[in-house]
Amino acid sequence: MSNNWIDTINIEEVPEDDVIGVNVNGHQIALYKVDDEVFATDNVCTHGQALLSDGFLEDGEIECPLHQGRFCIKSGKAMNEPLTEDIKTYETKIEEGQVFLKFRE
Ligand code: FES
Repeated sequence: MSNNWIDTINIEEVPEDDVIGVNVNGHQIALYKVDDEVFATDNVCTHGQALLSDGFLEDGEIECPLHQGRFCIKSGKAMNEPLTEDIKTYETKIEEGQVFLKFRE
């Protein structure tokens, strides 16, 4: 069980009002930047094998590209059908331009 801050990518690499997929310790994570705040969730949808980083970010929600399930990027809450399971979120912080993720296995 690890619970550590992990260095991911530079804040400049996270597109504004959009999402990017990163690999953290072998896990697929989606990073989102909204109003200079960075949020992180698991990247693989809880419904299927689609990547949320291929989806569409709007009004603080990421829409899965496969069946249009939407998750709140702050809480991870599943907002509509066909989703039945929330997505895991991670705490983030920015230090010297790098985005760190509080990683929980
Ligand atoms: Fe994401 Fe179905 S795989 S909504």
